[in-house]
Amino acid sequence: MIHLLPVTQAQHRPRVAGWLAMGHVSRWWGDSSVGLAQFDDTPETHHALIARDNRPIGYVRWERVDLDDLASVGLMGIPEGSLDMDIFIGDPDALGCGPGSTALSLAFDRVFNRIDPPLIMLCTSAQNIAAQAAFEKSGCQRTAHFDDGPNGSCWLYARQSVVPTRVTTPSNAHHDNRDPLLLRPAASRHGY
Ligand SMILES: CC(C)(COP(=O)(O)OP(=O)(O)OC[C@H]1O[C@@H](n2cnc3c(N)ncnc32)[C@H](O)[C@@H]1OP(=O)(O)O)[C@@H](O)C(=O)NCCC(=O)NCCS
Repeated sequence: MIHLLPVTQAQHRPRVAGWLAMGHVSRWWGDSSVGLAQFDDTPETHHALIARDNRPIGYVRWERVDLDDLASVGLMGIPEGSLDMDIFIGDPDALGCGPGSTALSLAFDRVFNRIDPPLIMLCTSAQNIAAQAAFEKSGCQRTAHFDDGPNGSCWLYARQSVVPTRVTTPSNAHHDNRDPLLLRPAASRHGY
């Protein structure tokens, strides 16, 4: 069974550092020292270990979006207070058999219950097929394409606490600003 465990920084740092240095993670997360610095700076309330039957197999974290950073790659219209989530399954033996999408669903439930952001977003390279499949399986919607400079072509995915319908009536119209379908990327630097 997949579940989330609290992170104890001192206890779990070596394990997370080891995972970040593995090729299947660093290919998408980039420089492992940057990932480790993020781990060190993350408050207890904003990350978790992913475990299978109590054995840690991966890591998930979330932080408030920086609207200026998003605007710099042409992503506009994401509500203030939204969260950006990142995930990896570190144990190579655990990949591709459901833990990533299950862990995302658990993390979404936790974050919407405890922090209640207007939106949770995740970004991934257009080449990262496994991440795209896992994001979609956990209820995210592919929302915008953008060019992330050296990281190349990327997709933005978004998840709301309630998966939106496309029907708008006067009684629910006030929720429209929470609908990722309304996100409009600005013209990107490379003519998106
Ligand atoms: C992305 C990641 C978290 C997904 O977790 P996962 O446990 O491997 O994915 P899941 O098993 O939940 O897969 C969800 C779907 O993706 C599919 N999938 C998984 N790996 C795949 C691959 N390499 N190619 C194509 N589809 C793949 C699964 O078959 C599943 O679909 P299905 O249920 O219809 O069969 C994991 O692959 C990972 O940690 N990768 C390295 C780090 C990374 O890329 N992080 C995200 C960066 S943005």
